[in-house]
Order: sequence, then structure tokens, then C-alpha cells
Amino acid sequence: MESRVATRTKFTDNRRVRVKVPASTANLGPGFDSLGMALSLYAWIEMSESRTGETVFRFYGDGMEGLPADKSNLLYKVAQLVFDQAGVNVPELEIAMYSDIPLARGLGSSATAIIAALVAANALIGSPLSDDDLFQLATKLEGHPDNVGASLFGGIVVAAWDGEAAHYARIEPNAKLETLVAIPAFELATEKARHALPSQLAMADAVYNVGRSSLLVAALAGGELGLIRHAMKDRLHQPYRAPLIPGMTEILERATEFGALGSALSGAGPTLIAFVDADSPSKAELEKFLQDTMRKEGIEAETLWLGPCSSGPKVLVEKWDDLSAEADRTLPERIKGELAL
Ligand code: HSE
Repeated sequence: MESRVATRTKFTDNRRVRVKVPASTANLGPGFDSLGMALSLYAWIEMSESRTGETVFRFYGDGMEGLPADKSNLLYKVAQLVFDQAGVNVPELEIAMYSDIPLARGLGSSATAIIAALVAANALIGSPLSDDDLFQLATKLEGHPDNVGASLFGGIVVAAWDGEAAHYARIEPNAKLETLVAIPAFELATEKARHALPSQLAMADAVYNVGRSSLLVAALAGGELGLIRHAMKDRLHQPYRAPLIPGMTEILERATEFGALGSALSGAGPTLIAFVDADSPSKAELEKFLQDTMRKEGIEAETLWLGPCSSGPKVLVEKWDDLSAEADRTLPERIKGELAL
């Protein structure tokens, strides 16, 4: 008991931290495992050292009730990685999480959870690790840097990872850029969508993707939105994943006819994402096209207009001593004004 109190005083300083993290779309078509963009859809985590001496989880949000509520939980394990790397000992935690990001739909929910836990744990002990330290840890955990980079740094992130070190450059999203996502009602595990990919690729297809991905990065960096329709094309992963998502081929082929700047599979899917000029007069037609196309295939899908999110995690550090008045309020009650769905 005594040592627990001493640990808290020394490392977590009676803090509770709340972190808000953006969702992300990965690949942006040709940039498989290397391009990502943060989106204006969020998850929140709260973390503190446990006041009872036992680890406690509180989950809020669709599908989260099934998550493990013991020390096998990803959030707990990720937090412990931070403490280990920083050389501190905070074994018992209180963790609450609320998310508006649908699970297993290609909007980076797992990357968001990893970033949320890394940033919260780091803030809890006074932020000894740098953002780059967190990026390296997150990339190793996720296995690719695109979603985690976007959620950690905000905006558009161009990243490369060789299994050892991840490097990235960030692009500020153009102010006119908006997105429309069509989120199918069914889940698609990233693992399954990665298994659909071939292990070898023809040189012509590799060259095709290098050209498109490079052009896309230049177009996004230079605000040349008219180039997106030529650049947002892919022969590396989308054609192999299309059979898993009814309606995908038609949407990717025809979205520009309905005013989209370009369209792509969001991450590993099944969500489809259209990039749109925020001032476009055809937004309603585009939304109808996406909904009708999925419905024709018997797929229920929710459409959502999302902006790029320019910033990474927002961190609030509070002291338990100052929080007694809100002890009975849940995390969703505390963030009510910020929720999207
Ligand atoms: N780049 C990853 C993929 C994103 O396409 O599999 C999904 O997590």
C-alpha cells in the first residue's frame, strides 16, 4: 500500500489525463502502407493510476463492450510499454474509453486506440517520451505507419518503415478538402483484407503505383486538387480487395462522374472514401450515388461527411484533487459537447 502511494506521488503526480485522438484513412488509394490522413471523427481515453489498487476499465461506444477488461487489454499493454521504456512502474490503472470510430471498418480504430494509450500513458508520467518515440512504438505495434502516423501527427502523413525505423513527412491538408465516407454495416478484419493480397507484383503494376502515389503526394502538397482523380488509382491492393466489398469497383470507377475529386478504399476497408472539394455543388448527388450503389448490392452503409483533422491528439491533464465534483459523471457525459454521432 505504502509503495503504491509513493509510486503515484513520484510518477503520476495525482494526475488524470484525457486524450482525444482523430480517426484516420490509410493508403489514399496508391499509397499502400505509406499514406494516411487524420479525419474529424474521434476517440477519447482517460487514464490515471488506480485509486483502489486494482486495474479498472470502463468502455463506452458501439462494439466496445466486447473488449477484454483485464490486463490482456491492448490499452493496458500499450500503456505498460510506455512505462517500461520510461523506466517507471505504474502497474494498476483506471482506463476509460469512448469512441465514435466504428471498429474494423477501415477508419483506423485500432491505430487510434494505440495512439490514445501511448499518449495518455506518456502524459500521465510527465511526457518523458518524444512524439517520435511514440511513433516508433506505434508503428511496431500496428505493423505499418500510415494510420498511426496520421492519428499522432494530424493532417496528411507520408511515412516509410523498414521494420526497424519509421520516418515521416507531414502535409497540411488543403482547406478545400473534404471527404465523404460510406461505412458498410459489416466488419472486415485488416488481417483478412491483407491475406487477399498477392505476395508478388508485376513490375508494370509497381511502376503504375509509384507514379500515382508520387503524383498524389505532390498534388496534395501543392493544392492541385484537379490531379487527384489521375493520382488516386491503385493496382497494388484495391483490385485484390474489391471482391470482399460489394459495390466497391463501381464506386471507385464512377465517383468522379458524381463530382468527387477521387475515391479510394479507406485503409483495408470496407469503408469507401471520396475526396471532395468542400465547395462542390454535387455533394448530395455523390452521397446518393454511394448509398444507391451499396444498396443495389444489398449492403447497408452509413454515409458521413468528414473533414481532414489538422492536429494530432489533444491532451488534458487534471489533478484528482480538483475533480471531486465530477466523480459521478461518466466519460461520455464529460465530453458530451464534442461528440459527433
Ligand atoms: N495500410 C493498411 C492496409 C491499413 O491497407 O492493410 C489498414 O490498417
